[in-house]
Amino acid sequence: MIIKPKGTMDITLEDAKIWKYVEDVIDSVMEKYNYNYIRTPIFESTELFHRGIGNTTDIVSKETYDFLDRGNRKLTLRPEGTAGVVRSYIENKMYGTCSLPVKVYYNGTMYRYERPQLGRYRELSQYGVEVLGSSDPMVDAEIISLALNINKMLGLKGNKAHINSLGDQESRDHYREALKKYFEPHLDDLCEDCKARFDKNPLRILDCKVDHDKEYFKKAPSILDYLNEESKKHFDKVCEYLDLLEVDYVIDDRIVRGLDYYNHTVFEINADIPSFGSANTLGGGGRYDTLVSQLGGPDTPCVGYAVGLDRLVMALKEEKIALPIKKDVDIFILYVNEDEKKNAIYLANELRMAGFVVETEYTNRSLKGQFKRADSFDSKYLILLNSEELKDGLITIKNNKTKQSDQVLLEYIIYYFEEHIGITDNDGEVETDYEEDK
Ligand code: HAM
Repeated sequence: MIIKPKGTMDITLEDAKIWKYVEDVIDSVMEKYNYNYIRTPIFESTELFHRGIGNTTDIVSKETYDFLDRGNRKLTLRPEGTAGVVRSYIENKMYGTCSLPVKVYYNGTMYRYERPQLGRYRELSQYGVEVLGSSDPMVDAEIISLALNINKMLGLKGNKAHINSLGDQESRDHYREALKKYFEPHLDDLCEDCKARFDKNPLRILDCKVDHDKEYFKKAPSILDYLNEESKKHFDKVCEYLDLLEVDYVIDDRIVRGLDYYNHTVFEINADIPSFGSANTLGGGGRYDTLVSQLGGPDTPCVGYAVGLDRLVMALKEEKIALPIKKDVDIFILYVNEDEKKNAIYLANELRMAGFVVETEYTNRSLKGQFKRADSFDSKYLILLNSEELKDGLITIKNNKTKQSDQVLLEYIIYYFEEHIGITDNDGEVETDYEEDK
């Protein structure tokens, strides 16, 4: 038997319905915020991620799926969505053709060669937003609020934004020096990764999963004490707008994020599910004001975030949130002989095109088997096709809850269902003009 690759998932049946529902909610909320959907390639040139995300990050140095194609091009399966969106923004000259800021969202699979564990996969799905062309802190606040609003709309409670500021280049340079000074006496005690980070990217030491509980880690200097006036002003404004939006957030000066492109605001969206461990972080993002110019475009301040759909769905299931997922079939068409079957094929098509959810029989089950299958879909109505009735242009429709039957002329069938479906109350009682007329 061939099995799926390590770190990948099949999303099937009931789970697939949850995913679809979540994606539909995301689409509808994005529409309200006027974000445009964007699709970029799943693979990009390897150089994009090296230059964009940073050579020293774990994602690029250890986790990318790199390959040479048959034309010897160096390609990489995207580990995240931001670099591709920025590449597309520059390549399509959106800065010249669109009114700024450009607000886009995406939803797709990303690939990271990580050790698979709870909420951590090698093929993962993210939805994300990127706003390109505004440095206004109102955008930082808006997207943090947007991420939490989507989770709220899905029914997740107790989600919190953890926010921090990495400041501008000047603030970060000062902080980097202070951190190096602080960690220098502990250098021998640091893990091998952090020893390497010490010179290349000391901020990333704060993100260490091995040593972060050690006392001297907790006492490390805070970036917030190194922000210059400009950076502090930006961060204060973000907090002011978050307060205005009544966003549930905490300031967490240990958030540095695992990608190199950030400056000013960084944040993570956390669920309130302790058993999830590090998978409790549903999403993260921040400002990346220099990435566009770094990749060859004009100076363009940007901000964005991404949420892991795998973790979001996991959280919904863990919290046992009842989602309004439509499970039932409107009409199930039953038949026995070839003549009835042809009518079933024809009617199913007509009714589906009229907007109803229609199921029928495909494997020659007995009528008893067909009734059972119709029940398995919670079918609201049954059409019981009968050759004798069909000769007179009639069909029998049965309400599968009340068991009440009606004989209806074939040409009125759509009218019948328009009258009955969608206004059936919870008891299966049908209140319609049609009934009043009877
Ligand atoms: P990130 O923090 O690397 O940010 O990923 C965002 C979210 O993707 C994580 O919080 C997590 O939910 C999910 N995720 C990451 N890795 C995995 C994995 N191996 N398995 C399952 N889920 C995972 C970014 O990707 C940035 N591009 C976000 C951003 C957008 N920043 C600015 N704009």
